[in-house]
This record gives sequence, structure tokens and C-alpha cells, in this order.
Amino acid sequence: MQPVEICKNIFWIGVNDDRTELFEGLWPIKQEGISYNSYLIKGAKTVLIDLCKDLFQEKYLASLKTLTDPSKIDYLVVNHMEPDHSGALRAFREVAPQAVILTTQKAVKMLVDFFGIKEAVRVVADGETLDLGSHQLKFITAPMVHWPETMMTCETSTGILFSCDAFGGFGKLTNGIFDEDYSDLSFYEKESLRYYANIVAAFSKPVLNAGEKLAGLNISMVAPSHGLVWRKDPSRIIKLYLQWSEYGKGKAQKGVTLLHSSMYGNTGRMALSVRKGLEEAGIPLDVFDVTATHPSYILPSLWVNQGVAIGAPTYEGSLFPTMAQVLSMAEFKRVFHKDAIYFGSFGWGGGATRYLNAQFEKMKWQLLETLEFPGEPKPETLVQAVEFGKRFGERIKSL
Ligand code: FEO
Repeated sequence: MQPVEICKNIFWIGVNDDRTELFEGLWPIKQEGISYNSYLIKGAKTVLIDLCKDLFQEKYLASLKTLTDPSKIDYLVVNHMEPDHSGALRAFREVAPQAVILTTQKAVKMLVDFFGIKEAVRVVADGETLDLGSHQLKFITAPMVHWPETMMTCETSTGILFSCDAFGGFGKLTNGIFDEDYSDLSFYEKESLRYYANIVAAFSKPVLNAGEKLAGLNISMVAPSHGLVWRKDPSRIIKLYLQWSEYGKGKAQKGVTLLHSSMYGNTGRMALSVRKGLEEAGIPLDVFDVTATHPSYILPSLWVNQGVAIGAPTYEGSLFPTMAQVLSMAEFKRVFHKDAIYFGSFGWGGGATRYLNAQFEKMKWQLLETLEFPGEPKPETLVQAVEFGKRFGERIKSL
């Protein structure tokens, strides 16, 4: 993509990634893609803010050279050391050895560890400002959003917040880089939530801390390192992020995520009845076959919904493995404080509930009710399952 001037003398230089299968080697993005956004400030001093993944460094540097001679760049702001932003650092240093890296104290060791870089590094402190003559930078540390060294940078004369991972999302930029370029933002909001739940959710408290630090700034534009530049309505993505981070404390939306898996269709038939009951309760509902769905797509729903209905058989005296894997990832991502029910078939003895009790203790989930049955569900069990789902839906609605 060609560079875009986001306001006078400040440019977006980004790369759309539609080659990577798994972001962080973990999260599917082949369909949706992702952008790596970098920004160039041209004024009395020339400043580059963040880079991109090394896979795209040639393309990126070619773009950069259409705007400026890299050997004239005064500073490179490294907001974050994760290689999706810093990967092009070695290649950048080759063409811009004079550019002084501005970064946090915690990034200093990482620069050595990842790239062997020790020279021309200047540490900036939280709240420090740098007068560039034509522009003013303010550095705002944001530890654990997403790594301990992470910071955001605000250009205070224009109010542009270069927020790095915060306020970012999956989804390559197809019809423009700004929020105002899209009449329907649902794809980018959905992918921002998936990114939040996959990448940031475990650090929701630090997101809230960072949000408090931003309160005193007059933000006119949110320019993250992934996804849309929020120019028309920067408050929209900030509000969404803060709302999602609040869910980390406990009470989430009045909605239910129904997760199901089945070996021979017995628990699957029950899942249809439980679903019917939930629908009769009129509760917002997301349904996932966990065996067929990557956890990346399930985590957003688990994050925003207060209720979780789990349908899976007992398997070798424990919970069916694909369900156990989803719950394990949810625990890893700190999806805590949920209300849950469980239903499932067993062959000769249970075990799934025992597993869930232990797992839920770690996740601070309440197991409100269970409905286990041997073999296939009998007609009366299917009727029970409808009531079971309805009861749960009504309970979540009443919270
Ligand atoms: Fe976009 Fe934490 O890297």
C-alpha cells in the first residue's frame, strides 16, 4: 500500500500481511490478515514510529524511501519490541545508522537480546516530552500492553496517539486506512475484539491503567500499530477497549456462549435441546462446536458473555479433550469469573464434572448446574435439557 498522509506532515506507512497463517504462531489470520502500521513525522526533525515484521521489510523500506531518505531520519521510536513491530530493525539500521532509538528502559536489554543493538539508544521516561521544533512528542509507558517494555507516544500538537498494540485489531486494511473509509465497521470491530481476546485480554488491568493515563490527553486520532486509524471517531475504539477490559474484573454482558463437542452424537443431540431452551429464554447466544473451531474465534465470545454452557462427553474418566483444550486456553487468557452449566454423556462412569470442578476453581467460574446421562439421551432427558437451558438463560438475563 502507498503511504497515506494522516495529517499535515505525518504519514502512515503500513504493510498488509496476508501471508502469515498464524499470528504469534498461534492465532489464525490467513483469512482476515493484519496490518503493521508505522508512522513518519516530517518536520524540523524526522521521526519514525515503529517498524514492521521482518517478512515485509523490503516492501516497507521501499515505501519509506518514497517519503524520505532514511539516512536523514533523526529518531526511531520503538514503542514495543515484539517482532511484529521491531522485526525490520536490523534492516532499518543498515539504511539509517544515524537514527537514535527512543525507547523505554525495559526495552534496552531486549534490543540487545533480539538484535544485538546497543549503540544510539536513548531511554525515555514515562511522561517525558521531546520538543522536535515543529512537533512535540510525549512518551507514555504502558507496561504489559502488551509486554513490560511497551509504551505509547502522543504527538501533542496534533493530538495523535500512536498507541502500538493498544486499540489495535486483526484485519488487513482493504478500502482505506481510516475508520471514516468504511460505512460498516463491524468487521474491524469484530477483529479488534478477537485481537483483544487473543492478545491483550490477559492484561486487562494494565489496559485500564493505561486508559487512566490517557485521560489528560486531548486525543484527536488513535493511530495503532495494527488495524484502522481512528480519525473520525477515536473515542469509539478507546471506549470499546475499556469496556472489554472491564469484563476482566467479572460481570460481563448478559449473554451465553454454548460450547459443544460430541463423539457419537449423543451429547450433540442434547446440545440442540439446551440451545432450544436458551433460545426460548431470549438470551443473546453464540454457539461453537469446539472440535471444529479454533479457540481464537471462541475466546471473544467467552470474554464478553457472562454465561457459558458446556456440552461435552466424559472421555477416559475426564472431560472430552477438545473441550478441555478450549478451557485451558481460556484459563491462559484469564477468562475468569463466569457462570457455567455442564451437560454430557458418559459410558460407564462420569469424570467430566470432576475435571470441571478442578478447572473452574482455577478460573473462578461457578458451576451452577449439571446434567449428565449414561449413553444416549432418552426423550425425557431431552425435555429436561430444554428446561435446563432455559433456566440458565433466564438466570443470566436476570443478573
Ligand atoms: Fe503487535 Fe505485542 O505486538
